[in-house]
Amino acid sequence: MVRRALFAAATLALISSAAVAQDTVKIGLILPMTGQQASTGKQIDAAVKLYVAQHGNLVAGKKIEVILKDDTSVPDVTKRLAQELVVNDKVAILAGFGLTPSALATAPIATQAKVPEVVMAAGTSTITEASPFVVRTSFTLAQSSVPMAEWAFKNGIKKVVTMVSDFGPGIDAEKSFSEKFKADGGTIIESLRVPLRSPDFAPVLQKAADAKPDALFVFVPSGAGAQFVKQFVERGLDKSGIKLIATGDVTDDDQLNGMGDVVVGVINAHNYSANHDSALNKAYVDAFKKANNGLRPNFMSVGGYDGMHLIYEALKKTNGNTDGEKLVAAMKGLAWESPRGPISIDPETRDIIQNIYIRKVDKVGGELYNVEFATIPNVRDPVKAAKK
Ligand code: DHB
Repeated sequence: MVRRALFAAATLALISSAAVAQDTVKIGLILPMTGQQASTGKQIDAAVKLYVAQHGNLVAGKKIEVILKDDTSVPDVTKRLAQELVVNDKVAILAGFGLTPSALATAPIATQAKVPEVVMAAGTSTITEASPFVVRTSFTLAQSSVPMAEWAFKNGIKKVVTMVSDFGPGIDAEKSFSEKFKADGGTIIESLRVPLRSPDFAPVLQKAADAKPDALFVFVPSGAGAQFVKQFVERGLDKSGIKLIATGDVTDDDQLNGMGDVVVGVINAHNYSANHDSALNKAYVDAFKKANNGLRPNFMSVGGYDGMHLIYEALKKTNGNTDGEKLVAAMKGLAWESPRGPISIDPETRDIIQNIYIRKVDKVGGELYNVEFATIPNVRDPVKAAKK
C-alpha cells in the first residue's frame, strides 16, 4: 500500500512537472552583461524585467520564464549559449544580442531549431537575412545614417570625414551616409575606421583634423561615445570649427549626461530619445528610472522592451502555440506604439519600421538630452529598400 501510494505520488509529480513545462514558455535572453558592451546588457535586461513587471508573466495561459545568460559579447560564447538554451532548456524563443557578430553567430541555430531569434540591439542590415527566424526590434544603422546625410547637406555641410567602428554596423553607417551625401552633391574627403575592441581615437582624430572638413560624421557603438567625446576634446577638435554629426549611438542617453557641455549643439539622428515627447514615453522613463536607481533608459532599452511586447503579442495571436514558424508568422506586420513612437514589423523583411528623429543635444532642466526637432516617419531599412 505504502509503496503503491508512493508510486502514485511520484507519477503525479512527474505528470505535473511535465504539465508545468508545457505551460511555461521559456525565453533565452543572451546579452553582454560584462565587458565593453555591458551597458547594452544592463539596459535591455532592465527593460525586459520592467515589461514583465508591468504586463505580468502570464500570456495566453502560459507562464513566461526569462533565462538570462551573459555572452560577454564574444560571438562563440553567444552561439554556445544559444545551443544550450535550445537543447537543454528547451527555450521557445532566443532574444537579446548586443553585437552584430553575436546575432549572426546565432542565426544558423535559429534556422536549424526553428526558434525565433528576436534581435533587440544589433543593427547591421544583413542580420535579418541570415535566418528566416530573425525578427528585429532595434534599428539598422542605415535608418539613421541616411537622414543624417540628408540633413547635413541641406544645412550647408559640403565636405565630410567619416569615422566609424570597424565592424558590421560601422561599415553600414559609413556606406549609407556616404552614398546619400554624395548623391545629394557632397564630398567625402576621407573614410576612417577604428577597431571595435579597445579603440584609440587619437590617430584618426588627428587625420580628421588635418583634413579640415566642414563636419566629422561618427558612429561608435553604445557605450563607447563618452570615450570618443573625451578624446575629441583632448585633441582640440571641439575648438577646430569642425562640426560633429553622428548617429544617436554616440550621444547615447546612457552616457550623455557625463559627456559635459562640449556636446551641447551636436546634431545627430536616431530612433529613440529619453526626451521623446509622448505620454507613453514619459511613463516609460519614470517607471524605468524608478526600478533602476535613477538610470535613464537609452535606445537599447526600448529594443528590449519592444522585443518583449513583440513576443507577448505573437503568443496571444498563436493562442500560446510556441511553434517557431507560427510565432514568426504572428510577428510579421505587428504594429504598436513604442516609447520611441509608432513602430511595426515589416512583414516582408521581418525588420523594424520606425520614425527617425533629427535631434540636437541641449540642456533640459539642467540635464543633457537629445532634443528631437524633425521627424522622418516610418523609415524602412534603406539597405533592403535599395535591393528591391
Ligand atoms: C551595434 C551595437 C551597438 O552598440 C550599436 O549602438 C549599434 C549597433 C551592433 O553590433 O550591431
